Amino acid sequence: MESCSPASALGGAKKKRPLEIPPSSEKPNLGPSPSVMKQDSLEVNKDAANKDIVLSNGSDHHQIAAQTFTFRDLAVVTRNFRPDCLLGGGGFGRVYKGYLNCVNQVVAIKQLDRNGLQGNREFLVEVLMLSLLHHPNLVSLIGYCADGDQRLLVYEYMPLGSLEDHLHDKARLDWNTGMKIAAGAAKGLEYLHDKASPPVIYRDLKCSNILLGEGYHPKLSDFGLAKLGPVGDKTHVSTRVMGTYGYCAPEYAMTGQLTLKSDIYSFGVVLLEIITGRRVIDNTRVVGEQNLVAWARPLFKDRRKFPLMADPALEGQYPSRGLYQALAFAAMCVQEQPSMRPLIGDVVTALTYLASQTYDPEAHGISRMVAPGTPPRTRTRNRSHGSVDQRGSG
Ligand SMILES: Nc1ncnc2c1ncn2[C@@H]1O[C@H](COP(=O)(O)OP(=O)(O)O)[C@@H](O)[C@H]1O
Ligand SMILES: [Mg+2]
Repeated sequence: MESCSPASALGGAKKKRPLEIPPSSEKPNLGPSPSVMKQDSLEVNKDAANKDIVLSNGSDHHQIAAQTFTFRDLAVVTRNFRPDCLLGGGGFGRVYKGYLNCVNQVVAIKQLDRNGLQGNREFLVEVLMLSLLHHPNLVSLIGYCADGDQRLLVYEYMPLGSLEDHLHDKARLDWNTGMKIAAGAAKGLEYLHDKASPPVIYRDLKCSNILLGEGYHPKLSDFGLAKLGPVGDKTHVSTRVMGTYGYCAPEYAMTGQLTLKSDIYSFGVVLLEIITGRRVIDNTRVVGEQNLVAWARPLFKDRRKFPLMADPALEGQYPSRGLYQALAFAAMCVQEQPSMRPLIGDVVTALTYLASQTYDPEAHGISRMVAPGTPPRTRTRNRSHGSVDQRGSG
């Protein structure tokens, strides 16, 4: 049976001291502290993970609720990381499902690949970020393990998996759910951009990092690449280009100059994926349609082409005004010029509005029937456009 240490309450029940945070204030304050953070990046002592991790911001410290686990604890709950407990795997490691008695909760445990300093750095960034940032649209970190060279993160379990699992699934999300997920993800991003101080650039917004809880409630996950944004009159932070191909803003990919607008670009790509059901990069498609944004750009110029962009799997079940508005907004987010992209506050306003305009298939089914001669929007026109949806068999 696993034994976990509720670090916040017992502080000292284990050898490792728990994380500490400054007293809560309206804005989560992310430093800087001389020992842990530099102005525009999280700097952690090289061997910090093996010693204490302390975030300091002046005199008073509060302890964080994240718990520490031994490697043994987590091996027990995942039955020694058995393949049948595996939820998925990404670029940084594998994720397992387990049940933790001490918190009476099902959890997702990510075992990071042992890739030296960079891996350790991302682990620390994620622990620090998720310990300080709390919002209904961000995944919660329950604890972590830094035993020897093992690095594991323990999150709340998100029962409906990731947005990616649903978009490219046979049982496609309906229009309303898609907009609701986009609106929730935008709120999570708004918290990072506008509420955290200094702002946090998420840097890895993509469908597989939007996890879904009961009722498709979305939460952003994976903060290993998150970066503290520019402070003062700086407009960007310079950094090594990291993230996921296809979601990366062009100016960031080319120059390494990272701004909050880089996240807005990635958000636009996610919104496009939700609307079109297409993958950001899909090598199984014909040349010219493999890169989602490159395919969409010429279509954005002609509003009459918008219905061609809706996912054929929606079978025309979407509000036509909503489709126009959502696509026009996605087009703004993925503009080449970062300054032309909207701010996150505008994104939240737009998406909250779109999510409030729910589509009632029953009502629309009747209106289609009383208007013979009006073809169902997506399927017919998509065929004439020659854009073949290659997901599944049909
Ligand atoms: N907290 C969680 N709850 C449920 N499933 C999760 C959780 N975290 C990750 N997963 C699943 O594991 C997969 C791999 O996660 P991750 O390592 O973050 O890689 P990636 O984001 O590149 O897919 C996710 O796509 C998701 O399906
Ligand atoms: Mg992820």
